[in-house]
Amino acid sequence: MVRLETRRLIVRHGRMADVASITRYARENQEFLAPWEPLRHETWFTEDYWRMRLALDVQEYYQDQSLRLLLIPRQSPGEVAGVANFTNVLRGSFQACHLGYALAARYVGQGLMTEALGAALDFVFREMRLHRVMAAHLPENERSAAVLRRLGFQKEGLARDYLLIGGRWRDHVLNSKLAPDWRPGPGEAFLVSPCGNAVSPECPSDAGDLSGPGSRVF
Ligand SMILES: CC(C)(COP(=O)(O)OP(=O)(O)OC[C@H]1O[C@@H](n2cnc3c(N)ncnc32)[C@H](O)[C@@H]1OP(=O)(O)O)[C@@H](O)C(=O)NCCC(=O)NCCS
Repeated sequence: MVRLETRRLIVRHGRMADVASITRYARENQEFLAPWEPLRHETWFTEDYWRMRLALDVQEYYQDQSLRLLLIPRQSPGEVAGVANFTNVLRGSFQACHLGYALAARYVGQGLMTEALGAALDFVFREMRLHRVMAAHLPENERSAAVLRRLGFQKEGLARDYLLIGGRWRDHVLNSKLAPDWRPGPGEAFLVSPCGNAVSPECPSDAGDLSGPGSRVF
């Protein structure tokens, strides 16, 4: 399980002991988050849902599919201040994922999301060995745009009808951040093989060696 420390936060996988606090976070911030998120089914606000979700988060991480983290304030460890979700991890010649994030209303304006994502991005680039993290925001979501700017994301364009937010297809600004100096490490050479990931008689050793961290089996 992942656990990162920053000056004011513990940024980590959720545990069963967090079920009550993450459910409280979801309920208390329902109205605040609604303009920026998909419609949430009523089950989203129940402990049963979060018990299942937190268990799945760990499972998905070990299957190399996602890294979903809770932001826990050091000064208030029984509370969830926000979430940061790196999802849709794709390997092969892409080595990329999507990023989504949100804070509880009462924690906005303190620099906590920038602090948390700084540590999480470092982990995702260094330990998970991803090359690209992609994040999208509604054009009017200036706070979200500012977070990404501070973290060194670059704007890549506007995608029409990109995400179903509040029940409506909405245009989004696309951004991404690349790993500072990604070079294939030992066992990752297959990524730059002329044969791609395909097993072929011409490059059996490249295609066969899938043991590098970029294609981790946990
Ligand atoms: C997007 C969101 C996470 C941004 O939150 P945020 O608090 O503005 O972002 P940060 O945590 O990086 O904090 C930056 C702010 O804290 C301030 N700040 C205060 N103390 C600080 C400190 N010690 N260090 C750094 N910044 C500090 C900064 O000046 C800045 O405020 P300003 O923009 O008013 O100048 C939040 O608005 C949110 O959850 N919105 C709803 C969900 C959402 O939109 N998610 C993203 C969908 S794309």
